[in-house]
Amino acid sequence: MSSNDKIDTNNQVPILTKLTVNDILRKKNEGRRIAMITAYDYCMSRICDYAGIDIILVGDSAATVMLGYKNTRKTTMEEMLVFCRAVSNGTKRALIVGDMPFGSYQTGMNNAVTNAVRFMRTGCDAVKLEGGVEVVSIVKRLTEMGIPVMGHIGLKPQTTSLTRGFDSHGATVEEAVKLIEESKALEEAGAFAIVLEKVTSEVSKIITNHSRIPIIGIGSGPMIDGQVLVLHDLLGLYNEFNPKFIKRYLDLSKLISKAITQYCSEVREGIFPNEDHTYHMQNGENEKLQKMVGRQQN
Ligand code: KIV
Repeated sequence: MSSNDKIDTNNQVPILTKLTVNDILRKKNEGRRIAMITAYDYCMSRICDYAGIDIILVGDSAATVMLGYKNTRKTTMEEMLVFCRAVSNGTKRALIVGDMPFGSYQTGMNNAVTNAVRFMRTGCDAVKLEGGVEVVSIVKRLTEMGIPVMGHIGLKPQTTSLTRGFDSHGATVEEAVKLIEESKALEEAGAFAIVLEKVTSEVSKIITNHSRIPIIGIGSGPMIDGQVLVLHDLLGLYNEFNPKFIKRYLDLSKLISKAITQYCSEVREGIFPNEDHTYHMQNGENEKLQKMVGRQQN
Protein backbone atom coordinates (compact mmCIF):
# COMPACT_ATOMS: atom_id res chain seq x y z
CA MET A 1 0.00 0.00 0.00
CA SER A 2 1.18 3.54 -0.63
CA SER A 3 0.35 6.75 1.22
CA ASN A 4 -2.18 7.47 -1.59
CA ASP A 5 -4.21 4.40 -0.72
CA LYS A 6 -7.23 5.06 1.49
CA ILE A 7 -8.98 2.76 3.94
CA ASP A 8 -12.70 2.27 3.38
CA THR A 9 -13.89 3.02 6.94
CA ASN A 10 -17.04 0.87 6.56
CA ASN A 11 -15.35 -2.44 5.92
CA GLN A 12 -11.67 -1.63 6.55
CA VAL A 13 -10.66 -2.83 3.10
CA PRO A 14 -7.92 -0.65 1.59
CA ILE A 15 -9.04 1.07 -1.60
CA LEU A 16 -6.02 0.35 -3.75
CA THR A 17 -5.11 2.92 -6.37
CA LYS A 18 -3.89 1.35 -9.61
CA LEU A 19 -0.29 2.16 -10.47
CA THR A 20 0.51 3.38 -13.96
CA VAL A 21 3.67 3.38 -16.04
CA ASN A 22 4.08 7.06 -15.09
CA ASP A 23 4.02 6.15 -11.38
CA ILE A 24 6.83 3.68 -12.02
CA LEU A 25 8.85 6.28 -13.96
CA ARG A 26 8.24 8.81 -11.19
CA LYS A 27 9.77 6.42 -8.66
CA LYS A 28 13.02 6.48 -10.62
CA ASN A 29 12.98 10.28 -10.76
CA GLU A 30 12.32 10.52 -7.02
CA GLY A 31 14.95 7.90 -6.16
CA ARG A 32 12.34 5.47 -4.72
CA ARG A 33 13.12 1.83 -5.37
CA ILE A 34 10.69 -0.47 -7.15
CA ALA A 35 9.69 -3.87 -5.75
CA MET A 36 8.68 -6.36 -8.43
CA ILE A 37 7.79 -10.03 -8.14
CA THR A 38 6.41 -12.74 -10.39
CA ALA A 39 2.97 -14.27 -9.85
CA TYR A 40 0.83 -16.54 -11.97
CA ASP A 41 -2.49 -17.06 -10.20
CA TYR A 42 -5.36 -15.28 -8.47
CA CYS A 43 -4.58 -16.06 -4.81
CA MET A 44 -0.86 -15.31 -4.92
CA SER A 45 -1.22 -12.12 -6.96
CA ARG A 46 -3.87 -10.91 -4.49
CA ILE A 47 -1.51 -11.52 -1.56
CA CYS A 48 1.40 -9.79 -3.34
CA ASP A 49 -0.81 -6.88 -4.31
CA TYR A 50 -2.11 -6.30 -0.76
CA ALA A 51 1.45 -6.65 0.56
CA GLY A 52 2.36 -3.59 -1.51
CA ILE A 53 4.35 -4.92 -4.45
CA ASP A 54 4.70 -2.33 -7.26
CA ILE A 55 4.94 -4.55 -10.34
CA ILE A 56 3.68 -8.11 -10.83
CA LEU A 57 5.40 -9.89 -13.69
CA VAL A 58 3.47 -12.81 -15.11
CA GLY A 59 6.83 -14.30 -16.03
CA ASP A 60 7.43 -17.06 -18.52
CA SER A 61 9.20 -18.66 -15.54
CA ALA A 62 5.66 -20.08 -15.21
CA ALA A 63 6.99 -22.69 -17.64
CA THR A 64 9.20 -24.18 -14.92
CA VAL A 65 7.54 -23.27 -11.62
CA MET A 66 3.90 -23.74 -12.68
CA LEU A 67 4.03 -26.23 -15.54
CA GLY A 68 7.16 -28.26 -14.73
CA TYR A 69 8.81 -27.75 -18.13
CA LYS A 70 12.60 -27.99 -18.23
CA ASN A 71 13.02 -24.46 -19.64
CA THR A 72 10.97 -21.39 -20.54
CA ARG A 73 11.00 -22.03 -24.30
CA LYS A 74 8.18 -24.56 -24.11
CA THR A 75 5.47 -22.30 -22.75
CA THR A 76 2.81 -21.09 -25.18
CA MET A 77 0.72 -17.96 -25.64
CA GLU A 78 -2.38 -19.87 -24.55
CA GLU A 79 -0.75 -20.95 -21.28
CA MET A 80 0.59 -17.47 -20.55
CA LEU A 81 -2.78 -15.83 -21.24
CA VAL A 82 -4.52 -18.06 -18.66
CA PHE A 83 -1.97 -17.00 -16.01
CA CYS A 84 -2.38 -13.34 -17.00
CA ARG A 85 -6.19 -13.48 -16.66
CA ALA A 86 -5.87 -14.99 -13.19
CA VAL A 87 -3.35 -12.35 -12.07
CA SER A 88 -5.47 -9.59 -13.51
CA ASN A 89 -8.46 -10.87 -11.48
CA GLY A 90 -6.35 -10.84 -8.30
CA THR A 91 -4.63 -7.49 -8.69
CA LYS A 92 -6.00 -4.03 -7.93
CA ARG A 93 -2.92 -1.85 -7.42
CA ALA A 94 0.25 -3.32 -8.92
CA LEU A 95 1.23 -2.74 -12.52
CA ILE A 96 0.86 -6.07 -14.34
CA VAL A 97 3.47 -7.01 -16.94
CA GLY A 98 2.86 -10.01 -19.21
CA ASP A 99 5.99 -11.86 -20.35
CA MET A 100 5.86 -12.63 -24.08
CA PRO A 101 6.87 -16.28 -24.54
CA PHE A 102 9.49 -17.59 -26.95
CA GLY A 103 8.07 -17.59 -30.48
CA SER A 104 5.43 -14.94 -29.83
CA TYR A 105 7.51 -11.99 -31.07
CA GLN A 106 10.32 -13.59 -33.11
CA THR A 107 8.06 -14.51 -36.04
CA GLY A 108 7.44 -11.08 -37.56
CA MET A 109 6.10 -7.69 -36.57
CA ASN A 110 2.45 -8.54 -37.16
CA ASN A 111 2.63 -11.55 -34.87
CA ALA A 112 4.41 -9.52 -32.22
CA VAL A 113 1.70 -6.84 -32.30
CA THR A 114 -1.15 -9.37 -32.36
CA ASN A 115 0.30 -11.29 -29.42
CA ALA A 116 1.05 -8.16 -27.39
CA VAL A 117 -2.56 -7.05 -27.93
CA ARG A 118 -3.75 -10.45 -26.68
CA PHE A 119 -1.75 -9.91 -23.48
CA MET A 120 -3.24 -6.44 -22.97
CA ARG A 121 -6.76 -7.82 -23.43
CA THR A 122 -6.28 -10.14 -20.44
CA GLY A 123 -5.82 -7.09 -18.20
CA CYS A 124 -2.03 -6.69 -18.41
CA ASP A 125 -0.77 -3.11 -18.29
CA ALA A 126 2.43 -3.81 -20.24
CA VAL A 127 4.43 -6.59 -21.88
CA LYS A 128 8.04 -7.71 -21.45
CA LEU A 129 10.26 -9.23 -24.09
CA GLU A 130 13.83 -10.48 -24.04
CA GLY A 131 16.51 -9.06 -26.31
CA GLY A 132 18.69 -6.09 -27.23
CA VAL A 133 19.13 -4.51 -30.65
CA GLU A 134 17.34 -7.41 -32.35
CA VAL A 135 14.01 -6.43 -30.69
CA VAL A 136 14.36 -2.64 -30.87
CA SER A 137 12.01 -2.27 -33.87
CA ILE A 138 9.35 -4.34 -32.05
CA VAL A 139 9.70 -2.27 -28.87
CA LYS A 140 9.32 0.91 -30.95
CA ARG A 141 6.25 -0.34 -32.79
CA LEU A 142 4.47 -1.62 -29.67
CA THR A 143 5.19 1.62 -27.83
CA GLU A 144 3.79 3.64 -30.76
CA MET A 145 0.65 1.48 -30.58
CA GLY A 146 0.24 2.43 -26.90
CA ILE A 147 1.52 -0.86 -25.48
CA PRO A 148 4.12 -0.19 -22.76
CA VAL A 149 7.16 -2.46 -23.09
CA MET A 150 9.67 -3.62 -20.49
CA GLY A 151 12.99 -4.78 -21.97
CA HIS A 152 15.11 -7.67 -20.67
CA ILE A 153 18.86 -7.96 -21.28
CA GLY A 154 21.84 -9.74 -19.75
CA LEU A 155 20.94 -13.36 -19.18
CA LYS A 156 17.97 -14.11 -21.43
CA PRO A 157 16.56 -17.48 -20.32
CA GLN A 158 14.59 -18.06 -23.55
CA THR A 159 17.81 -18.30 -25.59
CA THR A 160 20.38 -19.09 -22.91
CA SER A 161 21.02 -22.68 -23.88
CA LEU A 162 21.43 -21.59 -27.51
CA THR A 163 24.13 -19.09 -26.61
CA ARG A 164 26.31 -19.12 -23.51
CA GLY A 165 24.46 -20.89 -20.71
CA PHE A 166 23.77 -19.38 -17.32
CA ASP A 167 27.03 -17.39 -16.86
CA SER A 168 26.86 -13.83 -15.61
CA HIS A 169 27.06 -11.02 -18.18
CA GLY A 170 29.30 -7.96 -18.23
CA ALA A 171 32.52 -9.47 -16.95
CA THR A 172 34.64 -7.83 -19.67
CA VAL A 173 34.77 -4.31 -21.13
CA GLU A 174 33.54 -5.67 -24.45
CA GLU A 175 30.47 -7.23 -22.84
CA ALA A 176 29.89 -4.14 -20.71
CA VAL A 177 29.87 -1.87 -23.77
CA LYS A 178 27.40 -4.18 -25.53
CA LEU A 179 25.03 -4.14 -22.53
CA ILE A 180 25.26 -0.35 -22.18
CA GLU A 181 24.48 0.06 -25.90
CA GLU A 182 21.58 -2.38 -25.68
CA SER A 183 20.05 -0.52 -22.73
CA LYS A 184 20.39 2.81 -24.57
CA ALA A 185 18.80 1.36 -27.71
CA LEU A 186 15.84 -0.03 -25.73
CA GLU A 187 15.34 3.26 -23.90
CA GLU A 188 15.43 5.20 -27.19
CA ALA A 189 12.94 2.75 -28.72
CA GLY A 190 10.49 3.63 -25.94
CA ALA A 191 10.87 0.87 -23.32
CA PHE A 192 9.54 2.17 -19.98
CA ALA A 193 11.86 -0.07 -17.89
CA ILE A 194 14.50 -2.75 -18.38
CA VAL A 195 15.17 -5.98 -16.51
CA LEU A 196 18.90 -6.68 -16.14
CA GLU A 197 19.42 -10.34 -15.39
CA LYS A 198 22.70 -11.65 -13.94
CA VAL A 199 24.76 -8.62 -14.95
CA THR A 200 27.91 -7.67 -13.00
CA SER A 201 27.21 -4.95 -10.46
CA GLU A 202 29.83 -2.59 -11.95
CA VAL A 203 27.98 -2.62 -15.26
CA SER A 204 24.47 -2.47 -13.79
CA LYS A 205 25.51 0.61 -11.79
CA ILE A 206 26.63 2.39 -14.97
CA ILE A 207 23.45 1.43 -16.83
CA THR A 208 21.28 2.56 -13.89
CA ASN A 209 23.08 5.89 -13.56
CA HIS A 210 22.89 6.63 -17.28
CA SER A 211 19.29 5.67 -17.99
CA ARG A 212 16.17 7.79 -17.59
CA ILE A 213 13.98 4.68 -17.21
CA PRO A 214 13.97 2.30 -14.22
CA ILE A 215 16.48 -0.54 -14.30
CA ILE A 216 15.15 -3.60 -12.47
CA GLY A 217 17.78 -6.10 -11.39
CA ILE A 218 17.78 -9.82 -10.80
CA GLY A 219 21.20 -11.13 -9.89
CA SER A 220 22.62 -7.73 -10.88
CA GLY A 221 23.69 -6.30 -7.53
CA PRO A 222 22.29 -3.53 -5.35
CA MET A 223 22.99 -0.46 -7.55
CA ILE A 224 19.71 -0.63 -9.45
CA ASP A 225 16.33 1.16 -9.37
CA GLY A 226 14.33 -1.93 -8.47
CA GLN A 227 14.53 -5.66 -7.88
CA VAL A 228 12.59 -8.65 -9.18
CA LEU A 229 12.52 -12.23 -7.87
CA VAL A 230 10.55 -15.28 -8.90
CA LEU A 231 7.85 -15.79 -6.24
CA HIS A 232 8.51 -19.51 -5.91
CA ASP A 233 12.24 -18.89 -5.29
CA LEU A 234 11.55 -16.24 -2.64
CA LEU A 235 9.03 -18.44 -0.83
CA GLY A 236 11.09 -21.63 -1.01
CA LEU A 237 8.54 -23.41 -3.17
CA TYR A 238 10.92 -24.32 -6.00
CA ASN A 239 14.25 -25.58 -4.76
CA GLU A 240 15.63 -27.00 -8.02
CA PHE A 241 17.24 -23.68 -8.95
CA ASN A 242 19.81 -22.27 -6.53
CA PRO A 243 21.92 -19.43 -7.90
CA LYS A 244 23.47 -17.21 -5.24
CA PHE A 245 21.36 -14.19 -6.21
CA ILE A 246 18.20 -15.76 -4.76
CA LYS A 247 17.20 -14.89 -1.22
CA ARG A 248 14.72 -17.33 0.29
CA TYR A 249 12.46 -15.54 2.75
CA LEU A 250 10.52 -18.70 3.66
CA ASP A 251 10.78 -22.48 3.39
CA LEU A 252 7.20 -22.88 2.24
CA SER A 253 7.75 -26.37 0.77
CA LYS A 254 8.60 -27.60 4.26
CA LEU A 255 5.61 -25.85 5.86
CA ILE A 256 3.20 -27.15 3.22
CA SER A 257 4.60 -30.66 3.44
CA LYS A 258 4.16 -30.62 7.24
CA ALA A 259 0.55 -29.47 6.92
CA ILE A 260 -0.33 -32.10 4.30
CA THR A 261 1.33 -34.89 6.32
CA GLN A 262 -0.72 -33.88 9.36
CA TYR A 263 -3.90 -33.76 7.24
CA CYS A 264 -3.23 -37.30 5.90
CA SER A 265 -2.75 -38.74 9.36
CA GLU A 266 -5.80 -36.93 10.82
CA VAL A 267 -8.00 -38.25 8.01
CA ARG A 268 -6.62 -41.77 8.42
CA GLU A 269 -6.99 -41.72 12.20
CA GLY A 270 -10.50 -40.22 12.14
CA ILE A 271 -9.43 -36.99 13.87
CA PHE A 272 -10.60 -34.80 10.98
CA PRO A 273 -13.39 -34.04 10.27
CA ASN A 274 -14.96 -33.79 13.74
CA GLU A 275 -18.10 -32.20 15.18
CA ASP A 276 -16.73 -28.67 14.52
CA HIS A 277 -16.76 -29.32 10.76
CA THR A 278 -20.14 -31.11 10.59
CA TYR A 279 -23.65 -29.98 9.50
CA HIS A 280 -26.88 -31.38 11.02
CA MET A 281 -30.52 -31.72 10.00
CA GLN A 282 -33.18 -29.43 11.49
CA ASN A 283 -34.64 -30.33 14.90
CA GLY A 284 -36.82 -33.43 14.78
CA GLU A 285 -36.08 -34.18 11.09
CA ASN A 286 -33.53 -36.88 11.83
CA GLU A 287 -36.00 -38.83 14.02
CA LYS A 288 -38.59 -38.76 11.19
CA LEU A 289 -35.97 -39.87 8.68
CA GLN A 290 -34.79 -42.71 10.93
CA LYS A 291 -38.38 -44.00 11.20
CA MET A 292 -38.81 -43.83 7.43
CA VAL A 293 -35.52 -45.60 6.78
CA GLY A 294 -36.39 -48.20 9.46
CA ARG A 295 -39.80 -48.91 7.83
CA GLN A 296 -38.18 -49.35 4.43
CA GLN A 297 -35.62 -51.78 5.86
CA ASN A 298 -38.34 -53.96 7.58
O1 KIV B 1 10.09 -15.04 -16.36
C1 KIV B 1 10.55 -14.46 -15.38
O2 KIV B 1 10.25 -14.77 -14.22
C2 KIV B 1 11.51 -13.39 -15.62
C3 KIV B 1 12.21 -12.81 -14.44
C4 KIV B 1 13.30 -13.71 -14.01
C5 KIV B 1 12.70 -11.43 -14.70
O3 KIV B 1 11.73 -13.02 -16.72
